[in-house]
Amino acid sequence: MSQFVIAIDQGTTSTRAIVFDHAGSVVSVGQLEHRQLLPKPGWVEHDPMEIWRNTREVIGQALARADITRHDIVAVGITNQRETTVVWDRLTGRPVYNAIVWQDTRTQPLIDELARDSGTDRFKDAVGLPLATYFSGTKIRWILDNVEGARQRADAGELLFGTTDTWLLWNLTGGAHGGVHATDVTNASRTLFMDVETLEWRDDILEAFGVPRSMLPEIRSSSEVYGIAESNSLLREVPIAGILGDQQAATFGQAAFDDGESKSTYGTGNFLIFNTGERIVRSGHGLLTTVGYKLGDAAPHYALEGSIAVTGSLVQWLRDNLGIIGSASEIEQLAASVDDNGGAYFVPAFSGLFAPYWRSDARGAVVGLTRFVTKAHLARAALEATAFQTREVLDAVCADAGAELSELKVDGGMTANELLMQFQADILGVPVVRPVVAETTALGAAYAAGLAVGFWSGLDELRANWQEGRRWEPHLDEASREALLRQWKKAVTRTFDWVE
Ligand code: G3P
Repeated sequence: MSQFVIAIDQGTTSTRAIVFDHAGSVVSVGQLEHRQLLPKPGWVEHDPMEIWRNTREVIGQALARADITRHDIVAVGITNQRETTVVWDRLTGRPVYNAIVWQDTRTQPLIDELARDSGTDRFKDAVGLPLATYFSGTKIRWILDNVEGARQRADAGELLFGTTDTWLLWNLTGGAHGGVHATDVTNASRTLFMDVETLEWRDDILEAFGVPRSMLPEIRSSSEVYGIAESNSLLREVPIAGILGDQQAATFGQAAFDDGESKSTYGTGNFLIFNTGERIVRSGHGLLTTVGYKLGDAAPHYALEGSIAVTGSLVQWLRDNLGIIGSASEIEQLAASVDDNGGAYFVPAFSGLFAPYWRSDARGAVVGLTRFVTKAHLARAALEATAFQTREVLDAVCADAGAELSELKVDGGMTANELLMQFQADILGVPVVRPVVAETTALGAAYAAGLAVGFWSGLDELRANWQEGRRWEPHLDEASREALLRQWKKAVTRTFDWVE
């Protein structure tokens, strides 16, 4: 009888369940989008109950489409949008507030307060991250400060915190009736609370943030049995055996297991991860130090990360807020109807700028406008923004690692856009390569779960599953590339100092 692994990919815009076979091929997919709640400028929320409902439904879809049952599934892997913060009541299982999403910038005043004396690098040596609204830490604190009664309930040990991996694990394993409250090292490394060397929560930092330790999940490896799905679920008695934050999962799914390997994922944002092996590398160029993965009791693998907040979500914004395209896929045709950007540069600093700038005072700008510029040029400038931002984080990786990258492995939804991928290769000056299985995020979580239960024997077996699907070679001459980059960098500076 064939056996399968199911991965749950709880992303920023949707939740998916994907069934994989032993060759790492996709057998079936279930998918549902959830609402993006935008109550004020800079605020982004999700409804955790909607996410949990959708999770159950997509599991049902995926099993039905593969025409299998829980008896055919050997393990469940979870991967998730990272940093997005859920706080809930351990007795009722009810969230006390909506999930505050990683893109949300409402906690800037808390960041300013924490950074007042020692700057935003105050905890960077310990946790690998600068103080920024992006991470979970100040989101938890905001909920404790702003939801009535939350602080007292947290102090009394009644409230639990989790990123969405933890939220789903707790619910899948029984919720208020004995659910497992745990996360993995990769997700924990995005809170601002985990020491990257010891892989434990730091009491001194928790104290500085005013967050009680009793709310925090147990930190576990990325590949081990955390718990068993509860008795009344579609996955009854199946072990949940893998958890990786989505960017780390994509790196794992790309089989970039070793020191010096990397990938860039094109999702709502872009995230370039460069594996530094067992070395903890501190960035001098605006990258994050994060945990790449940890398999059971083995030593952790670390990574440098270049996080870009807005790439694919800029295309959604052109569709939803400006209406210049009817669907996300239309952007390619519109952008291809002109030869170049017409002099326009679009810097989508909607959540400030992440890597390599970390400028929370920045806001979005379109510069270089003349009467010549049309919506087609704007569409092109929006796509080019993704490629320029990726080039800038790649430069930072090369500077930190002291090495040149000979090609870039890519994955994610936007890699279907030929025009963007060609421009990406042109602006990088190195080939861009996409694997046959582009669902690398879910695949990485499936791999972590399958390894834990012996479905796959080890990393060599997984490496053999990776196959090149498509390659884009750079064609642009050096002088044109440098000219475009110069203009882009100038455009970026125009977004600074906007928030007072
Ligand atoms: O750090 C945020 C990242 O994990 C979100 O990824 O693919 O859901 O946009 P995605």
